[in-house]
Amino acid sequence: MKNLAIFASGSGSNAENIINFFKDNNEVNIKLILCNNPSAFVIERAKRLNTPCKIFDKKDMKDGNIFTILKENSIDYIILAGFLWLVPKEITSYYDKKIINIHPALLPNYGGKGMYGDKVHKSVYENKEDKSGITIHFVNEFFDNGDIIFQAETKLTREDTPDTIAKKVHELEYEYFPKIISKTISL
Ligand code: GRF
Repeated sequence: MKNLAIFASGSGSNAENIINFFKDNNEVNIKLILCNNPSAFVIERAKRLNTPCKIFDKKDMKDGNIFTILKENSIDYIILAGFLWLVPKEITSYYDKKIINIHPALLPNYGGKGMYGDKVHKSVYENKEDKSGITIHFVNEFFDNGDIIFQAETKLTREDTPDTIAKKVHELEYEYFPKIISKTISL
């Protein structure tokens, strides 16, 4: 049995999709959600899905409380699903190649500090890109910088807007993120 923790900061639609994907899987247990934003919708989703959810702040992260929670819960893998803070080095080193993030663009483009959510889709739109996509990658102590595990592309047209780009990218996320997590943790 592998225990997973999901870190999320916002809506949590990926978190929900991952929980549903693994719900009948005896090998994978989504043990808890860790959320750094007390008004994030992911908290409601966690309640509805009966998944324990802990809300934490910067101090918990800095003081090592989050690391302690991960160890107390015997967490084997960490999934970042729309989590906006940098993960401390203490955790990235301990969980080397065991933290998986999804980024809503084709890294190394449109990544790094401050490049998240709608900002990414707006930049892709403004630069008139003819494609965007998702990148699933391991996490190190830098933003969007760890080894890439998987990428998928979606074509863009001149009719696309930041909103339609976001929708196309979300569709790829829902399709691939749980499958790639499953594959990666079974290696
Ligand atoms: C996703 O687009 C993900 O790629 C990015 O943040 C967004 C989170 O969406 N890192 P949600 O909270 O899972 O709905």
